[in-house]
Amino acid sequence: MIPSKNIVLVGFMGTGKTSIGKLLAKELRREVIDVDQHIEKKEKRKVSDIFEKDGEAVFRRMEKEAVREISQKSGIVITTGGGAVLDPENWDALKKNGWVVALLARPETIYQRIKGSKRRPLLKAKDVYAEIKNLLEARRPYYERSDFSVETDGRTPSQVAKLVLETLKGKLS
Ligand code: S3P
Repeated sequence: MIPSKNIVLVGFMGTGKTSIGKLLAKELRREVIDVDQHIEKKEKRKVSDIFEKDGEAVFRRMEKEAVREISQKSGIVITTGGGAVLDPENWDALKKNGWVVALLARPETIYQRIKGSKRRPLLKAKDVYAEIKNLLEARRPYYERSDFSVETDGRTPSQVAKLVLETLKGKLS
């Protein structure tokens, strides 16, 4: 039997990757692995703590290692952190054995969803909305490399999960 491809969710912080990943896994009876949670389990500390104590570069190395490990599996759902797609090696690993689906949202939506979040080290700026806009603009070309994309503005997680399933219809065995 040919192993089924993974479903990989990428997208900016606050696009709902983790919650939608869980819904997809439940619906499809697949295992779900979240890259950030995988790192936190291995490191026995929070991503925010890694950023604070060791800096972003160390986190990105851990992220690359985690992506490499997790992408070796097949038939699972993988949810990534918002910056995972910046690294070409991560991109190759995720695409090789998976359908990559980008979850999209407007900066206003993202701001509403994640303002006040304490667990996001990249959003410690004074003007969080401006920071979201800048980062989103810089990352847009990376998310655009995905196989498919789904807009999440004004949609509930279960509506988005349904759209992802429709998008992947016939592509999953
Ligand atoms: C990051 C997003 C975070 C986490 C880390 C860096 C990013 O994950 O990986 O704080 O670079 O956008 P979420 O997208 O789940 O918030």
